[in-house]
Amino acid sequence: MTAAGKGLEGVVASQTSLSFIDGQEGILAYRGYDIHDLAPNASFLESVFLLWNDRLPTREELASFEAELAGLRAVEPGTLEGLSGIPRDTVPMAALRTGLSLEGIFDPDAEDNSPEANLRKAKRLVARTPTIIAAAHRLRQGHDPLDPDPSLSIAADFVRMANGEPGTDEAAAALDRTLLLYLDHGFNASTFACRVIAATLGDMHSAVTGGVGALKGSLHGGANAKAMETILEIGEPENLGPWLEKAFAEKRKVMGFGHRVYKTKDPRAKHLKAMSEQLTKQAGLETLFEISSELENQMVGQKGINANVDFYCATVYYALGVPIDLYTPLFGMGRMGGWTAHVMEQHADNRLIRPRAEYVGKNDLPWIAIDDR
Ligand SMILES: CC(C)(COP(=O)(O)OP(=O)(O)OC[C@H]1O[C@@H](n2cnc3c(N)ncnc32)[C@H](O)[C@@H]1OP(=O)(O)O)[C@@H](O)C(=O)NCCC(=O)NCCS
Repeated sequence: MTAAGKGLEGVVASQTSLSFIDGQEGILAYRGYDIHDLAPNASFLESVFLLWNDRLPTREELASFEAELAGLRAVEPGTLEGLSGIPRDTVPMAALRTGLSLEGIFDPDAEDNSPEANLRKAKRLVARTPTIIAAAHRLRQGHDPLDPDPSLSIAADFVRMANGEPGTDEAAAALDRTLLLYLDHGFNASTFACRVIAATLGDMHSAVTGGVGALKGSLHGGANAKAMETILEIGEPENLGPWLEKAFAEKRKVMGFGHRVYKTKDPRAKHLKAMSEQLTKQAGLETLFEISSELENQMVGQKGINANVDFYCATVYYALGVPIDLYTPLFGMGRMGGWTAHVMEQHADNRLIRPRAEYVGKNDLPWIAIDDR
């Protein structure tokens, strides 16, 4: 028995009706709707509704879906208590992982994997992920977490809960669009982790907690924060050439570039690049955009490697004033809509996911008694 490629590249593991990706043509669609139509026209929660219900909501349905989720934003008191007990220097992704796990302990549907219970849990998870991230952020600064304000949109309320004061409508709209762009992406590592857990008939909170663990790594969601560190490390446009030369010589991976599936432009990067250009300009951070676009030119020109979703998202979040270590949790906030959709899809037509391994170790060794070793 021979193993598939080391990272399972090219392996079609199962089927999904949630998102379609054409890595050669650079196409991403949620439930048949192209990301280029969704990004400028739909909201994050509108796209979550689409993903969960396989159709776009009417105006009334969207309003009632938004109101329902707004009413679910407050996390369990035990979750806040648990988060207040973790060390202040806990990285936000670890705090999110812990917060979600605590929510799973208190959830009234915790052990119920029925479609109805799964949908109720999915709603709570999407509604509460921003609250957990904001609460952990406040606590590490020595402040009390703020209660949600259901009159605000999910993105605007996150900004308020995290910063302690409301942000602009424009900042909320930009954040909302990044959440939409992060929503779903086939069998990426974190989603696949969720599906593996769900396929054991594990519960939704266990699955998404595993998803956060997978997203945390720098080859996946952690890349948006690392990309920002790279851009700041370069610092000035004139440093780019020598920086890149050194990075290539050291065979360093440039974070925010390359993709396992896209062999052309990542369609999400187009929207994030436009947002980055506009927001960095408004924030007086044009130099960061200049470095970013020149880095992209050089990576494409010299290596044929394109920017992925995480690259321009980094400067979008920087221009919005988001602390760098919250970039990956924000990716998770968006992806939560996708993870929960995948758990529901997996549970609806389940089979244990259990691949084989090609054994390459030793064979037929003679037993040695413990005193003779
Ligand atoms: C995403 C990623 C893991 C996909 O990688 P992959 O499918 O395993 O591709 P490989 O790592 O095999 O890369 C193929 C070649 O491109 C190069 N390459 C890929 N991404 C690169 C990057 N970001 N910077 C520099 N070189 C890169 C590899 O070094 C390799 O070159 P080689 O054939 O000369 O050894 C990889 O591109 C990466 O590590 N990117 C940076 C992290 C990142 O942005 N992750 C977020 C993804 S959305």
